[in-house]
Amino acid sequence: KQKERQKLLDAYDLASRMYHFLLKNTEHGREAMDYLKGRGFSDKLIDHFQIGYAPPQWDTLSRQLTKREFPMELMKQGGLLLSRNDGSPYDLFRDRIMFPIWDARGRVVAFGGRILGEGGPKYLNSSESSLFHKSRTLYNFNHARPTIRKSRELVLFEGYVDVIKAWDAGIHNGVATMGTSLTEENAFMMHKNVDRIILCYDGDDAGRAAAYKNLSLLEKSGCEVKVALLPDRMDPDEYIGAHGGERFVREVIHDAVTSLKFKLIYLRKNHILIEDTGRIKYIQEALKLIAPLHSPMEREHYLKELAEEFDQSPETLKQELHQIRLEMQ
Ligand code: GTP
Ligand code: MN
Ligand code: MN
Ligand code: MN
Ligand code: MN
Repeated sequence: KQKERQKLLDAYDLASRMYHFLLKNTEHGREAMDYLKGRGFSDKLIDHFQIGYAPPQWDTLSRQLTKREFPMELMKQGGLLLSRNDGSPYDLFRDRIMFPIWDARGRVVAFGGRILGEGGPKYLNSSESSLFHKSRTLYNFNHARPTIRKSRELVLFEGYVDVIKAWDAGIHNGVATMGTSLTEENAFMMHKNVDRIILCYDGDDAGRAAAYKNLSLLEKSGCEVKVALLPDRMDPDEYIGAHGGERFVREVIHDAVTSLKFKLIYLRKNHILIEDTGRIKYIQEALKLIAPLHSPMEREHYLKELAEEFDQSPETLKQELHQIRLEMQ
C-alpha cells in the first residue's frame, strides 16, 4: 500500500514536470503559451504554479509511464490514465492547460485541466484517488500556509485562476476548494488554521448563491466570515485584468463586508423595494437577521442603517426587533 502510494506520487510528479516542460519547449505548447500570455500569466507565475500543457495526442503520458514501467492498473485507478476496451491505456488529459493540484505538503496529487478557449467541459478534474480527496483538498494551501499561519486569515476563491492572479496581486493567503460546493470537512480544516475567512466568489448569480450558502457552514465551524463584493458578472481574475491588482486588494479584498451586511444585500435583491409590500417584507426579513446578534451595539448599528435607508423611525424598528427577539426565545 505504502509502495503503491509512493508510485502514484512519483507518477503525478513525473506528469506535472512533463506537462510543464511541454508547455515551455514545444511547438504545440506555444499555442497554449500564447493563450496563457493572452490571459495575463507571466513566466514567473507559470513557473511558480507549475502550469503545463497536455498535447492533443492520446499517448503522451501513457508512453512515458509505460517506458518507466509504472504499473498500468495503478495509473488507471489513480486517475492518470483511462482504459480502452482491449485494456490498453490512454491519456485522460489531452489538449488542455494543466494546473497541478498539491496536497498540504506540496506534492502533486491531481490536476485541473482547462480547455483552450471555448467548449466543454471547461475544466476536467482528476477523479478522487488514494492521494486525492476533494473534500479535504484546498488548492494552493501548500503555498499559502506560511501566510495563513501568520495572519490567521485566508481568502477563499472559486477558481484556480483567481487564486493565481490574486497571488500575483500580493494576496498570498488565497485558496480554492474543488468547485464551489464547500464541505464540512473543508470548513473544519480551514478553522483549524484560521479565525477569519474572506469569501471572494464570482460576481454572478452562481457565485453569490454559493457565497450565501457557504457562509453559514463556515460560521458554524467557528470562523468569522467576510464577503468581498465584485461587480456584476466579474470574477477576481477579470477584475484584476480590468482594474489591476492594487485596486483589487484595496477595493475588493480590504472592503469586504460583514456576513450580515452581505446577507442584507443579497436579501434586498429578492424584494421589490419600490413597492410598499416589498419594502415592508424586506425590513421584516432584515430584522430577523439582525435579531440574533448578541452584541447590542451591533444590533443598534444595523438598525440605524436600516432606519436611515427606509426613512423609518428607529424607535418603531426597535420595537419590532424587540418583538422578534421575544419570539425567538
Ligand atoms: P476561467 O474561465 O479559466 O477563468 O475559470 P474560472 O475559474 O473563472 O471558472 P468558473 O468560474 O466557471 O468555475 C470555477 C471553478 O469551478 C473552476 O476553477 C473549477 O474548479 C470548477 N469548474 C468550472 N467549470 C467546470 C467544469 O466544467 N467541470 C468541473 N468539474 N469543474 C468546473
Ligand atoms: Mn464561476
Ligand atoms: Mn475558534
Ligand atoms: Mn470564474
Ligand atoms: Mn475566470
